[in-house]
Amino acid sequence: MAVPQAKLRTPEEAVASIAYLASDVVVSVQPAIGTDSAFSKQLKQLAQSKTQSLVAKTSDAVPEIVPVRHNTDPLLSVFTPIRSGRLVSVTTTSSILLPSVAHLYRLANFPVVIHVALAPKRFPDYSAITAVRNSGWTFLQSWSLQEAHDIAITAHALAIRSGKGVIHFFDPSSSEGNAPIELASLDVIRTVLNLDNVRRFQSAPVPGTGIYADDGRKALVAEQAEPVIAPASAASAVAAASEVPATGASSPSATSSSAKSSQQSTNTATPTASAATTIEESAPAVTSEHIHKYATGIWSQLSSLIGRNYNAFEYKGPASAESVLLLFGSNVSLFADAILHAPSSEAFAGAGLLIPRLYRPWLGAKLLEAIPQSVRKIAVLEQISRKTTRWGPVLVDVLTSVKSTPGGVETVVGHQLGYISKTTVEQALRGVFQNLSSDKPVQNLEVGEREAPKEAPEYGLEQPALENAYIKILNKLFGNRVFIANALGSDNAGVSDTIAASPEFGFGSLLARKERRQKFVEQAKKFAIIGQFLTDVPKRALAKWATSLDDVKKTEQAAEEVISSLTIDNSTLAKTLLEGKAFFHKESLWLVGSDAWAYDLGNSGVHHVLASGENVNLLIIDSTPYSERAAADANRRKKDIGLYAMNFGNAYVASTAVYSSYTQVLQALDEADKFNGPSVVLAYLPYNDEHDSPLTVLQETKKAVDLGYWPLYRWNPDNEAKGEPKFALDSERIKKELKEFLDRENRLTQLMRSQPQYGAVLSEDYGTEIRAQQRRRAKDAYNKLLEGLFGAPLTILFASDNGNAQNVAKRLGNRGRTRGLKTIVMSMEDYPVEDLPSEENIVFVTSTAGQGEFPQNGKPFWDAIKDNTDLDLASVKYSVFGLGDSHYWPRKEDKVYYNKPAKDLDRLLSNLGATRLAPLGLGDDQDPDGYQTGYQEWEPKLWEALGVASVEGLPEEPPPRTNEDIKLESNYLRGTIAEELKDESTGAISADNSQLTKFHGTYMQDDRDIRDARKAQGLEPAYSFMIRCRLPGGVATPQQWIQMDDIANTYGNKTMKLTTRQTFQFHGVIKRNLKKAMQAINRALMTTLAACGDVNRNVMCSPLPSQSKYHREVWACSKKISDHLLPQTSAYHEIWLTDDNDKKELVAGNAVQDFEPLYGPTYLPRKFKISIAVPPHNDVDVYAHDIGLIAIKGADGHLEGFNLLAGGGMGTTHNNKKTYPQLGRMLGFVKTADVHIACEKVMLVQRDFGDRKNRKHARLKYTIDDMGVEMFKAKVEEYWGQKFEEARPFHFDSNVDTFGWQKDETGMNHFTFFIENGRIEDTPDFPMKTGLREIAKVHKGEFRLTPNQHLILSNVADEDVPLMKELMAKYKLDNLNFTGLRLSSSACVAFPTCGLAMAESERYLPVLITKLEQVIEEVGLRRDSIVMRMTGCPNGCARPWLAEVAFVGKAYGAYNMYLGGGYHGQRLNKLYRSSIKEEEILPIMKGLLKRYAAEREEGEHFGDWCIRAGVIKATKEGRDFHDGVAEEEGEE
Ligand SMILES: Cc1cc2nc3c(=O)[nH]c(=O)nc-3n(C[C@H](O)[C@H](O)[C@H](O)COP(=O)(O)O)c2cc1C
Ligand code: SF4
Repeated sequence: MAVPQAKLRTPEEAVASIAYLASDVVVSVQPAIGTDSAFSKQLKQLAQSKTQSLVAKTSDAVPEIVPVRHNTDPLLSVFTPIRSGRLVSVTTTSSILLPSVAHLYRLANFPVVIHVALAPKRFPDYSAITAVRNSGWTFLQSWSLQEAHDIAITAHALAIRSGKGVIHFFDPSSSEGNAPIELASLDVIRTVLNLDNVRRFQSAPVPGTGIYADDGRKALVAEQAEPVIAPASAASAVAAASEVPATGASSPSATSSSAKSSQQSTNTATPTASAATTIEESAPAVTSEHIHKYATGIWSQLSSLIGRNYNAFEYKGPASAESVLLLFGSNVSLFADAILHAPSSEAFAGAGLLIPRLYRPWLGAKLLEAIPQSVRKIAVLEQISRKTTRWGPVLVDVLTSVKSTPGGVETVVGHQLGYISKTTVEQALRGVFQNLSSDKPVQNLEVGEREAPKEAPEYGLEQPALENAYIKILNKLFGNRVFIANALGSDNAGVSDTIAASPEFGFGSLLARKERRQKFVEQAKKFAIIGQFLTDVPKRALAKWATSLDDVKKTEQAAEEVISSLTIDNSTLAKTLLEGKAFFHKESLWLVGSDAWAYDLGNSGVHHVLASGENVNLLIIDSTPYSERAAADANRRKKDIGLYAMNFGNAYVASTAVYSSYTQVLQALDEADKFNGPSVVLAYLPYNDEHDSPLTVLQETKKAVDLGYWPLYRWNPDNEAKGEPKFALDSERIKKELKEFLDRENRLTQLMRSQPQYGAVLSEDYGTEIRAQQRRRAKDAYNKLLEGLFGAPLTILFASDNGNAQNVAKRLGNRGRTRGLKTIVMSMEDYPVEDLPSEENIVFVTSTAGQGEFPQNGKPFWDAIKDNTDLDLASVKYSVFGLGDSHYWPRKEDKVYYNKPAKDLDRLLSNLGATRLAPLGLGDDQDPDGYQTGYQEWEPKLWEALGVASVEGLPEEPPPRTNEDIKLESNYLRGTIAEELKDESTGAISADNSQLTKFHGTYMQDDRDIRDARKAQGLEPAYSFMIRCRLPGGVATPQQWIQMDDIANTYGNKTMKLTTRQTFQFHGVIKRNLKKAMQAINRALMTTLAACGDVNRNVMCSPLPSQSKYHREVWACSKKISDHLLPQTSAYHEIWLTDDNDKKELVAGNAVQDFEPLYGPTYLPRKFKISIAVPPHNDVDVYAHDIGLIAIKGADGHLEGFNLLAGGGMGTTHNNKKTYPQLGRMLGFVKTADVHIACEKVMLVQRDFGDRKNRKHARLKYTIDDMGVEMFKAKVEEYWGQKFEEARPFHFDSNVDTFGWQKDETGMNHFTFFIENGRIEDTPDFPMKTGLREIAKVHKGEFRLTPNQHLILSNVADEDVPLMKELMAKYKLDNLNFTGLRLSSSACVAFPTCGLAMAESERYLPVLITKLEQVIEEVGLRRDSIVMRMTGCPNGCARPWLAEVAFVGKAYGAYNMYLGGGYHGQRLNKLYRSSIKEEEILPIMKGLLKRYAAEREEGEHFGDWCIRAGVIKATKEGRDFHDGVAEEEGEE
């Protein structure tokens, strides 16, 4: 067994090691899950090295370490394991003991050990121990490193032997300077623990009851084996032998002073349950005497085994001492040294020192045995800072022990022990002994300093950085008016931080605050009449203020006036009043608490506030992540504060989550403030660790809200009077308990009536059971279907992320059927694993995901079988086919990931006894025909093995259905979209229709952050729709902006994305809102038709803020082209723009027979994109589109025409060298008047010659490359009947935006905002969306969306500039203080909505840039523009291949890195590294940036430098994109 070899340096390390070795479960109480305690590091190390526990039942068991945050009721985690017969110990500081007292009572009769490091550090407060001394536990104390180790062993042995809980406490600072020690040998520990006793406990679980009911357990003597006492010192051996198990009550003389702990044990000597019938056989309960006997037994064992001696009371000093100092506090060795080595001149020379080691049960008789007969005087020193009783508890213990026994002790004097150091100990002792020997000793004399030198505060008091989000909102919302009672860091003189943060203290101080304000108001009112001010102004202001007190707004205004008038007045009275100036405001009083208050609601701050009915507000931040909660055991489940508060009836209640809906948080806080009575606002902020990234928090929040675990709602009792519903549901789903409450309140019916759409959601059931049933039903249905068939059965299971493996499996199934086999095809996750042994023939087809992982829908199956040793597959025949990519992870060491799931599965099935039908088959994307190559070899072998290889007359297979078929059958894009929109049983639409809706400008997506969680719940994915507008050239009016903002708020996820194609995109629109959103967009005079799909998309145009007149001319062309190429189908109007009862149509749709003069019934082979650049700005990336138009200015300064480029395009497929990005090729010059026709003809040639078989080869770029540029051009000219003129000269500077203010040639002003990655949203720090809306309300010009996803406030007249500047400053929209790198960056949407994303993009690029900015600053590149782009997949939405540096998602967290793009978008980049993660990206980028800064020539751009420096080869055009990549992928 691996045993820790390193020496133990601290008592916590020593204790943690023993606890680990002596437990099945260790509850590790920590400041936070991600922050270690002094114990937890050691625990983790042991667990990581798989060290086994000595008490484990099986030889390989490693104890379970359960980290629990200190403020989440840690002892709750003890109940379940201890009741199931697992030995539990807890490592903690003393701060949790008092709040856990209720649990302590309930756990006292279980052999739990709690190791307690006393807090606060340096000068701990022993009242944490004395306060819980009567809870029925045994208390042991140690005061050095070695003792901590030995007493920890004692504690576990004693708990096991007595069957009762033991608390071992120590002051860690007492061991400072102790030399490191060795862990005792495992044999010693094992012997002392006594494994027979351990097993007896482990084999008798206690049936669980609720934790709030007494389960009647008593520790009984008969349960315990007699201590096996090793040959020890004669005395103890005799003592042990002479002890007889006590039969009834213990001797009164010994226990009369042992307070409740012993009473608790003794007064139930007769077990409750069987008292009536089996009284003779029932064993006596464990008494104080037994505890003492067991403890001394253990100590004598230890003494003989390791030679160290311990006693219930430790006495040090001469046997003839007259005075004794009994110490209950820190610094034992300091006192011992001082007393034992005192020069004879000292008053305390010759005295003795006595320390209780076994503090509870307190055995008075043993105390008397421990002190010499000669002792007359005892000084008791107690280190207890906050005494609630007049006499110290230890003093009382000693007094009763001494007084009840005849003996020589005459005087017992209690002292309150303060902070003592080496330099003050002697002086302190002098004081004590002087007092002791005086005629009338003073009781409770204070000794030492009252306070210890200041140290950093204990944990639990720092406001985790994340939680500041809510505090910030409070401050922002209520400004001067907010008063947060228990704000951390606030000054509460004389009150410890722990107390100041407690709800009781906070609530008390809120009430005091209210009272003070009341008094202040009274006074101020008086001064309004009789006050002596220098002028009359303050009086008038005060009078006005006094009459406005009922209205918050008026009070605020009046308060400001009063304050300024008083400030000017400057009289003494004015100054006095100003001291309380906060009271002029109507304060919004807040108490901020944590979810810890939920565990014991009846006693919590929540209860106090509700019961008081006071007008105070509670903000309770719940930080338990949904996933953690889901895994937590039932006992740890918190109470629902919201329900509790609603049941109270008189409170405003809201449940919010800032990472789900910021607007709803604001609304709730505002309503809570206005509500005249108690308000409880629950705020969800899940995190595992205070340093969690906002992204993690966001994902956890979404899971919780979406699954109904954390519904968003507001409950306002005031609404009833207004005739409005009290309850408003702000999210989609609510959980069962809440529904029941609403039912009971009879509100649900009302709610359902008013919002019938919630009906289905509210009554939906959850749970895995349902899922299991569904599976069973699916399988049964198949079986039925098969009954009619003959032939051998063949079950085919697949796992597939993107459909390849699924298609292979389905086709295999069909082929099997035609060969007469009874085939079933289903996904692995739908298959009931327990049926596996009864299969006859089974085939698995799995692709490879992530890094050698099973696809999502294969994981549960694999998890269920991989460690399942019970499966016997002896009668099963199988084969596995895998799909993978041998170059997905190109490095040598990553070769293991190639087709790993298939290989693993094949091996495992064989190990489980199954027989191979055909050998493992592997498909590789790298093979000439991709995975088909491997498949074609494997399939015949399978038929061979099944005996159906040579079946005659097989029918011909129908060709697979393609997008072309879907388009053709759709009747001009109708499909069955309209019908499906009405189906409320699902949030989805069918696969065919989702191809068609793209043409209407909307895609179905699902929230990928919560896909797994929903699956686990048996729910369909969280489907929603993305809607993209068509906005030629990206120009929108202010009114349109406001309308778009409304749409996002009402129907979408409350954010908008400005896209790389200069348009608005909405996300998160659920099906039932889709039509309404479409109508709203059309009302704003925009359309979504052909914003996506195989048609010409939104036509882009440089926004050109510096040349507005010219811009208007060019923009008009973009509009004209866009309109000219718009599809003509009336399906769009028919589906989306009909009125609500679907009868009256807004346009005459039915009558008209659709006809697409340009497109025909199958539209284009693929998407088609057009953009217009105006030199010298290439911000549209003119080379990246199917058609790129370069505007040419004539000599008269007007637009003359365009150079036309054709065949640019971005999308590729990873590792498919047949796909590549391409630059547009020059066809020539076209006049303005002809340009829309020229564009049409290019599009028509593509319509007719583009590849309609292979969508990966269907874009215009491939058509042109296949035909050759000249031939293509000729074809276009033929269609057109005209010729292109010679291209005109032009020049580009850059493809990035120019930020800030610019003036155009007409004198109007334009401001380009920096909108990071185009996301318009509000956050607590940056309410950008609100700001832009406010600006739109007053703006008279227009907005222009830029191709780099930024925004221009266009056409502001000089006189309007100041107002705009003011608004921009107010909402921080004028901030352009970013690095050149950030300003030149752009990212696509990717996770969580884009279904194609393989990696994060929009949410990750800003984080990556932040990490690079330090180097950027260091090497002096802060102002340099470097074009950096990121996309989540190789589809290339953010045009990554034209960036100087780009990252394209490969798998979650992994990217391909490209270098060498041209600064103004004229050159493609090239692959530099494959599949690298952040830890590689950062050093690579940092190295390159440093070199670039040092080596670049004047004006040389990063992309150009990369090529000159030989870092990467230049890509000349798309077809050499894959040539000479930097990292030749290593075949070995
Ligand atoms: C994100 C991602 C990660 C991949 N990781 C691996 C891998 O680690 N090993 C491998 O052999 N193939 C890997 N592949 C390749 C796929 O397994 C292969 O393309 C397969 O045909 C996909 O099948 P599917 O459509 O059924 O999911 C990966 C593909 C993707 C998209
Ligand atoms: S590049 Fe890929 S991941 Fe990003 S938005 Fe486009 S399709 Fe989605």
